[in-house]
Amino acid sequence: MASDSKLLQTLQQNPFVLAPMAGITDHAFRSFMREMGSSVVVTELVSATGIEYQSKKTLDLMSYDEGQRPIGIQLFGEEPEIVARAARFSQEKGADFVDLNFGCPVPKVVKKGGGSAILRDLDALRTMVSTVKKAIDIPLTIKIRTGWDSESRNADEVCRIAADEGVTWVAIHGRTRAQAYEGQADWDYIAQVKAKAPLPVLGNGDILTPDQAVRRMRETGVDGVLIGRGALKNPYIFRDALSLWRGEQRLELDRNFGRLYQSLAEKIQAQCSEQISQIQLRKFAAWFATGYPGAAAFRKAIFQSGSISETMEKSLDFFGAISLSAQEDTSSERFLMGGHG
Ligand SMILES: Cc1cc2nc3c(=O)[nH]c(=O)nc-3n(C[C@H](O)[C@H](O)[C@H](O)COP(=O)(O)O)c2cc1C
Repeated sequence: MASDSKLLQTLQQNPFVLAPMAGITDHAFRSFMREMGSSVVVTELVSATGIEYQSKKTLDLMSYDEGQRPIGIQLFGEEPEIVARAARFSQEKGADFVDLNFGCPVPKVVKKGGGSAILRDLDALRTMVSTVKKAIDIPLTIKIRTGWDSESRNADEVCRIAADEGVTWVAIHGRTRAQAYEGQADWDYIAQVKAKAPLPVLGNGDILTPDQAVRRMRETGVDGVLIGRGALKNPYIFRDALSLWRGEQRLELDRNFGRLYQSLAEKIQAQCSEQISQIQLRKFAAWFATGYPGAAAFRKAIFQSGSISETMEKSLDFFGAISLSAQEDTSSERFLMGGHG
């Protein structure tokens, strides 16, 4: 079980962290991304109420294995006591830390007072954080947006409250709730908050390349960065960012893309039913293909494939062929413009 200082030490050694993404950062993908260099991993948002009712679907989201450590379980909910019990349960399940989702903009979650809704009521936020913190001995982290809307950005106040209540770090997605996924993440604002924050801050939003990850670290002074969608376009981003950050010459990495995909495929098939495996295998292949020659035709072909073996065969052919090609810059294209944080 990680202590506060152990978790921070991990971050100091490697500040590049996979951002939680519902339906994507599941058991298999977290294992894969830890192998690919993400410093720590966090589950997608897990409903505290679902844990209260011991819903199988909810509990499945919490499954992990030893290779994923340090592993955090991200919780969302409205009732502090219920979230606190869910946090305690996460600790009993062996999680290294608990992360609270205060960033989800999705109406279904926000309407009930979950996710980013709490950014409008900082007394409620304090109560939530302190109630959960008291219930656990493992570290507690939170993930927020810059504020509810552009008139009420309050990440600095949230950081002060979090520090008072013993939170280990605050991860800030540099958009307001009102922005959803539009516009650009505001890294100037993240830098301002970091400069005054009495606790470690992780910045997040729109990092697509290893160079950008390192530049954000250097320019803003944050203690770490979360990378979400960028890891779907470039699964090598963590390893490359870390070697750049450490000032190492770019490692001659094994760029055998086919083998990489095969390794993810094995993890997916070990965890998921045949039907879900087929969906996940196609999704990841389609994302990893971004910016490579022939990506559009490849996507069409795999979404028409009738079986896992056909998807695998087509994907291995494609990834085998692109290993030496350069990836085009696709940063101006819209890509996964919705999610829970
Ligand atoms: C499909 C999708 C699902 C997401 N699910 C979650 C989630 O479960 N919990 C959370 O805190 N953030 C979630 N997010 C937000 C990401 O963690 C991250 O804050 C956001 O994507 C911005 O970072 P990026 O530009 O590096 O992707 C999700 C984002 C996407 C695109």
